[in-house]
Amino acid sequence: MKKTFGIIGAGNIGQTVARHLVKAGYQVVLSNSQGPDSLKDVIDSIGSGIAAGSAADAAAADIVLLALPWSQIATLTALTDWKGKTVIDATNHFVSFSPDFKLADIGDKASTEVVAEYVPGANIVKSFNTLYFKILGLDPQEGKGKRVMFISGNETTSKTEVAAVIVSLGFAVIDLGTLAHGSKLQQPGGAVATLNLVKY
Ligand SMILES: NC(=O)c1ccc[n+]([C@@H]2O[C@H](COP(=O)([O-])OP(=O)(O)OC[C@H]3O[C@@H](n4cnc5c(N)ncnc54)[C@H](OP(=O)(O)O)[C@@H]3O)[C@@H](O)[C@H]2O)c1
Repeated sequence: MKKTFGIIGAGNIGQTVARHLVKAGYQVVLSNSQGPDSLKDVIDSIGSGIAAGSAADAAAADIVLLALPWSQIATLTALTDWKGKTVIDATNHFVSFSPDFKLADIGDKASTEVVAEYVPGANIVKSFNTLYFKILGLDPQEGKGKRVMFISGNETTSKTEVAAVIVSLGFAVIDLGTLAHGSKLQQPGGAVATLNLVKY
């Protein structure tokens, strides 16, 4: 049976990934901080295979995608027992947007290493964070090539699981290694941030 997905954050990235997942036949629970009733129009626009839930409902799914603002990551800890859960971190550590695009001061850590502290014990994989949502939302098939989604993480099993899901959505996957290495390449300022790469 296909894994279920919970998405925490129902904005640009949450909705974009939700559309890919639903198209590929996954069951998705989409959530924000304001509760399921606030998502009725969004759910209606995405169609079948998706339901609105609380953030705790989304956190109960097999695989959880984090698509909420950086300022909100501390709210994740209380949502569930994260131990052993596969979590995909699509966040970037912006504390402000246009025109200054300021990043949080996270020292030498990769941003996903910081997020990992708020989902203790989760098997966290960085992905879906490198592309502007309007590019991420395009058909991953580009001519005879496939758009690349980068992944990084410290556990092979969860990376393999997430890679298989991403391939099932129609993307190609490039594994950039551990969080300390790969996540830094993926996050703002990193070598593959905003890189719209197509694999032929
Ligand atoms: N936009 C992009 O192209 C892009 C690309 C790559 C990565 N990212 C990253 O992805 C994350 C989301 O970006 P976005 O552009 O999708 O932002 P967005 O459009 O502002 O959406 C954020 C969503 O998170 C929800 N939210 C806020 N606080 C929450 C909480 N405590 N619990 C659950 N949901 C909460 C918001 O709804 P409520 O406020 O109603 O709760 C909203 O649905 C950010 O970390 C961003 O840096 C964005």
